[in-house]
Amino acid sequence: MPETPGDAILVTGALGQIGTDLVEALRAKHGQDAVIASDVREVANHPFVEEGRFTRLSVLDGDAMDLVVEEEGVGTVYHLAAILSATGEKNPELCERVNVGGTITVLETARRHGLRVYSPSSIAVFGPDAPDRAPQVTPLNPTTTYGKTKVTGEVMAMNYWKQYGVDTRGIRYPGLVSWKSPPGGGTTDYAVEIFHAALNEGHYDCFVGSETRLPMMYMDDAIRATLELMDAPADSIGEARGGYNVSGISFTAGELAETISERVDGFTCDFKPDQRQVYADSWPDSVDDSVAREEWGWQAEYDLTRMADEMLDRLSS
Ligand SMILES: NC(=O)c1ccc[n+]([C@@H]2O[C@H](COP(=O)([O-])OP(=O)(O)OC[C@H]3O[C@@H](n4cnc5c(N)ncnc54)[C@H](O)[C@@H]3O)[C@@H](O)[C@H]2O)c1
Repeated sequence: MPETPGDAILVTGALGQIGTDLVEALRAKHGQDAVIASDVREVANHPFVEEGRFTRLSVLDGDAMDLVVEEEGVGTVYHLAAILSATGEKNPELCERVNVGGTITVLETARRHGLRVYSPSSIAVFGPDAPDRAPQVTPLNPTTTYGKTKVTGEVMAMNYWKQYGVDTRGIRYPGLVSWKSPPGGGTTDYAVEIFHAALNEGHYDCFVGSETRLPMMYMDDAIRATLELMDAPADSIGEARGGYNVSGISFTAGELAETISERVDGFTCDFKPDQRQVYADSWPDSVDDSVAREEWGWQAEYDLTRMADEMLDRLSS
């Protein structure tokens, strides 16, 4: 039988794009000392490293994670450490090792210590055979290594729930747009880079075509979705627990550039697709999130104009 878990929250991969916002939100909700940020790297002068509870921890080191959980009284893990799509396709072996191996470390630690686990999935689980508006349940045949690791993560999360009763939950995040931290090497990074380029250079060379439409979401919605899913009563969480579809905003790269040029005088954008176009083309345009709406009341708040206004406002100030 697992020991009684503590109240502390451990966040892996905390210095990345999502962790930067999620740690802040968790500390605001549960208290500054309740949240231990961790990452394989340290960033000098980063507030998590300098001010809050921070520990250097690789998700490939099960003994070190055991020690942190025991010594710090951890009860819940938000497992964000991963290698994202664009970086992962350049180094598939590392992508598999970190994404699959790291998730095994977290799930095994959770099984031994009775922890709750939040482990995100991605729209990259879908392949070219998925409908344009991808439903919750559809064959998952991703063409990228990253996508395959995310399908494996969903399957493992479900298995640990069914076999060992580990309370695992996850969201298939769309491409996330945020201003606090740079994106970490994903295919949807253009939707963040374009804002920085618009304000700093007045021009952006976009690495996907103007007609490329992908599911996207503003970070505030993604953080709220994460907290709401983890707050949902256990009996409301069904078969989608490994990765709920959540819909935010679906826009083309051209529509995004147009929206920014209406707000930044003289902004221009050229479209110069590279290898990442292939990954983007293998993913759906949007997702059907009716299961998340029904089971835990999910509802996005940001549309394209509200997101663009807030990004430009935050980045300018
Ligand atoms: N950002 C997005 O648009 C997006 C979309 C879909 C899914 N996701 C998923 O959300 C999660 C977090 O994504 P993100 O955008 O914050 O990624 P990110 O690349 O910005 O951050 C990941 C962090 O993990 C750390 N890391 C890498 N290897 C590690 C290891 N061995 N041990 C500990 N830490 C390690 C990195 O140093 C980095 O700080 C990932 O599972 C990702 O697949 C993100």
